Amino acid sequence: MKANPDSVEIAKKNAALVAVKHVKDGNIVGLGSGTTIAYAIEALGERVKKENLKVLGVPSSYQAFALAVQNKIPVTTLEEHPVIDVNIDGADQIDPKLNLIKGMGAALTREKIVAAASKLNIIIADEKKRVKILGENNHPVPIEVLTFAIAPVTLAIGKLGGKATLRETKGKLGPVISDNGNPIMDVTFGAITDAAKLNQQLKMIPGVIETGLFVNLADMAYLGTTTGTEKLQTARKQTF
Ligand code: A5P
Repeated sequence: MKANPDSVEIAKKNAALVAVKHVKDGNIVGLGSGTTIAYAIEALGERVKKENLKVLGVPSSYQAFALAVQNKIPVTTLEEHPVIDVNIDGADQIDPKLNLIKGMGAALTREKIVAAASKLNIIIADEKKRVKILGENNHPVPIEVLTFAIAPVTLAIGKLGGKATLRETKGKLGPVISDNGNPIMDVTFGAITDAAKLNQQLKMIPGVIETGLFVNLADMAYLGTTTGTEKLQTARKQTF
């Protein structure tokens, strides 16, 4: 017999179920990565089956691709569909303006590309991901870097007041390597007062490929609890 899912899992699933209702017939759907999005992909697969919904998914990672295949959601590429109707993704921290820290699953670069290509970005998470300020509790900002640049990037980040650590794998010796073939570094800054500025400063460092600071990319967030969800919304300027 299956064990009862704990409250965090129920909260994640509640957020996912509401978000999937935004998907319409004919939509190109961005599929984020992580444990919360797994519930959304499963729910979308159910809709595809029951409602004969015609959608195409753009997976942001190998994990999302495998889940889409498993749940019989046809997939496409950004080459074929460079504009996505609705993207659903998880987050590690969510501030009141819906700026985010993402990347604890090492999928931040593709997730940001998919998010930036989307007309509507929906974030789903259990309510514990909500913070007053990004970086709270010394939560790290994941960054994807070129292996060649690890040492100078570490020094440059130090000058910005951050402490960068190469993320190590579990179950294998050595660094975590992203789907793009690059290592991931986790950088602690403490509370981040200006996420947009820090994101730009990090991106100016040669060898930094992408950062897990997602600024002005989310339109709404569903924060799940054991009994339902809370909806947060921004007035994000659409680039479409
Ligand atoms: C993947 O790199 C991440 O950005 C995830 O979207 C994020 O870590 C949220 O993951 P969970 O839903 O597993 O908490």
